[in-house]
Amino acid sequence: MPFITRRDLLSSGLVLSASSFAARSAFARTAALLAAESTEPSVAAIPAVGPRERFLFDFGWKFTLGNDCDPSKDLGFGYGQSDFSKTGDFKFAKAGFDDSAWRTLDLPHDWAVELPFVHDDSGGRDNAMKSHGYKPVGRRFPETSVGWYRREFEIPSSDLGRRIWVEFDGAFRDVLVFVNGCFIGRNDNGYAPFRFDLTDFIAYGAKNYIVLRVDASFGDGWFYEGAGVYRHVWLTKTDAVHLGKWDTVVRPSVNGDSATLALATIVCNEGKQPTSAKVTWKVLDARGATVATAESPEQSIPVDGSAPCTATATLASPALWSVDEPNLYSAIVTVESDGQPRDAERVSFGIRTALFDPEKGFFLNGKSLKIQGTCNHQDHAGVGAALPDRLQAFRLGVLREMGCNAVRTSHNMPTPEWVEACDRMGVMMMCETRQMSSNPGGLEQLELMVKRYRNSPSIIIWSIGNEEFLLQGPMAEQGAKIATAMVRRCHELDPTRVVSAAVNGNNEKGVSDALDIIGFNYNLKLPDAFHKEHLRRALYGSETSSAISTRGEYATDPLRNTVNSYDGVVPWGETPEEWWTFYGSRDWEAGGFAWTGFDYRGEPTPYGWPSINSQFGIVDMCGFPKDYFYYYRAWWGKEPSLHLFPHWNWHGREGDQIPVWVYSNLDEVELFVNATSLGRQKVPHLGHVQWNVKYDPGAIEARGYKGGEVVLTEKRETTGPTVAIRLTADRTEINADGEDVAVLKVEALDREGRAVPTAGNVIGFKVSGAGVLIGVGNGDPNCQESDKDPKRSLFNGLAQVIVQATKEPGEIHIEASKEGWDGPELTPAKLAITTKKVEMRPAVHVIREQS
Ligand code: GAL
Repeated sequence: MPFITRRDLLSSGLVLSASSFAARSAFARTAALLAAESTEPSVAAIPAVGPRERFLFDFGWKFTLGNDCDPSKDLGFGYGQSDFSKTGDFKFAKAGFDDSAWRTLDLPHDWAVELPFVHDDSGGRDNAMKSHGYKPVGRRFPETSVGWYRREFEIPSSDLGRRIWVEFDGAFRDVLVFVNGCFIGRNDNGYAPFRFDLTDFIAYGAKNYIVLRVDASFGDGWFYEGAGVYRHVWLTKTDAVHLGKWDTVVRPSVNGDSATLALATIVCNEGKQPTSAKVTWKVLDARGATVATAESPEQSIPVDGSAPCTATATLASPALWSVDEPNLYSAIVTVESDGQPRDAERVSFGIRTALFDPEKGFFLNGKSLKIQGTCNHQDHAGVGAALPDRLQAFRLGVLREMGCNAVRTSHNMPTPEWVEACDRMGVMMMCETRQMSSNPGGLEQLELMVKRYRNSPSIIIWSIGNEEFLLQGPMAEQGAKIATAMVRRCHELDPTRVVSAAVNGNNEKGVSDALDIIGFNYNLKLPDAFHKEHLRRALYGSETSSAISTRGEYATDPLRNTVNSYDGVVPWGETPEEWWTFYGSRDWEAGGFAWTGFDYRGEPTPYGWPSINSQFGIVDMCGFPKDYFYYYRAWWGKEPSLHLFPHWNWHGREGDQIPVWVYSNLDEVELFVNATSLGRQKVPHLGHVQWNVKYDPGAIEARGYKGGEVVLTEKRETTGPTVAIRLTADRTEINADGEDVAVLKVEALDREGRAVPTAGNVIGFKVSGAGVLIGVGNGDPNCQESDKDPKRSLFNGLAQVIVQATKEPGEIHIEASKEGWDGPELTPAKLAITTKKVEMRPAVHVIREQS
């Protein structure tokens, strides 16, 4: 888009001030973006396809904490010899077990986020408490590390003969599954999906009982990981002749202005007779129009056997998937045998090319594109690891607002709705597995990841791991073998994508040889030399920056655990300006992924207690932008951008020199202090401008010029004290489906209605009507207030409230008022969110409502 001139703006009646632009930007524009994204498949009902039924199994579970050491506090589980001795004997998973004292809740659920913070720094530098955000989870906290989930469900007699599966998108971490007294199976990692065939254990035409024992004592990572069933659970019913799980692949190749789709799947026969089956594909465009069809030859399939089925289809003039136009298609894949449809599924896919060139960087659909990426963990304020689907899109909207066009799912297999949001919203992905290993578990996790997501156009890189120092160094020989096996497996399952790893080191030995493209973590001194030596290897920044800052703070103060917002960075890291100047100015660098987009719980760098989360985020735990956000918006975004900081409330520091910075992509910026110009400065390419200004209350104003014209201005004014609260929501109408959420921003205002950037008032929230409060936050890395209580202190003027719709359409009323402190009254704020009736996605009926 061309730059807009001052005249254009004036004549269009658009507001010229960048402060209102900034105020609207990350939040309101995200809201607009999301409004346009209102047909998320995860939130809206997905129409059933064919005879398969898939039910959300999230609602109406009972929950209690168990105990990792004391069987008497763990449902008697673990007394010893008799635990697994007879099939069907687990009484807690049968009728008659009394769970009336257990709490009722819906999934996704993370019990770690509900626990108080505990200060325990034993264990030194690698202390798991610290790295997991000081929550009492782990073997030293047996009382709070095991959770039990239980619920009843009915299966009608008509389901006899079908295959019935319970499917978990992921849980943390060791899960034992019991149904109707029988032990069904076990999962022991925190990120890969897992499922069990319940067919033989079901009581048909009767009540059934499922119990999960989830043990979060072991960790997979060095960051907050949550505890519990933090992703969705599904109950899936298929015919005995059915499609294999994640075996359906739509592999497009673009030839000129048409695309060939190589279509493949596997049909399984778990029936009593051999059968023959064929598969049909119906390809739909984004509007639902059929644009191609195909059919495989008939295959015979023995009992308990399977057969691959393939076909080809051609699309003329396909609408390509890109970051600007994330066009998606879907294929409805149906198995027919004996003239009957037996199973079907819908697979979403996109058509695009992605190429890493050793000389010229990355190309999407043949066009050069820098990867402007961020790494992210998966937790959010208020909800921990258990994100409602809508929050995934909310978070992505925040990142996209600063020009981020790619995310790395560091350091684990992502939640499906995060990938779906990337597909839908045009954000590329580096998709990473947790365990770098060719042991059976490591390969299984990798395989699940690739099979699960290989139809997603957003994914451009598979990553087999992160910073495996031993495998890159002293165990390089094993590292090379492990990486070779993992890369080979990725290529077998998906020959269309490159495989890489995030390597912190020189990439000269160990895992690196096996990789298709070479990722460097940090170490800006290394890529130039590597590039010279290895001209045929494509390079990118797999992890960069690790800049740190505390939102709204402008001094690094170890007594307050704050980091200044100008140039905070860890010793091994680079400021945004340092790393992007490097990557942004080398053609052969494909771009990179900054550590991190969002702040996350755990790894409270650079301080320890009472800090409970990291300060690496470009936005805080709530998604409120820090100042670094605007560096990226200036140099990654496509629009004119101007951001002036710090705030101008320096009471008591009159006469002090205050550094004033501006991030902008305009030609020049002029700074005014109380209406007096301090002169214009030329903005260096990929840089910033700064002044030192003697503090005098009033206002500072930056004016940004393009082609000699003022294009944007931004002002910071010294505000008065807080007198009122303002509530705004990302959306004021959401779905009444028991899942959808609205994200509310809480601000402090002075008498003139200006946001008070230093306010820290405690605000209480009353939520009534058609919704409930599910979490609060404020982005303060040192705040140990509860994420679940209906109150929160503002941190530098802001807090966040997340409300979730019930299933009854109506209005959610939110009231915010001063809570529990003396001092001047604040004018409360009220907001209503409408929840609209929608067709809900099929869910397992809750037999017994809350007791
Ligand atoms: C990296 C690591 C990340 C995070 C980061 C902090 O080395 O891959 O997980 O710990 O350091 O700077």
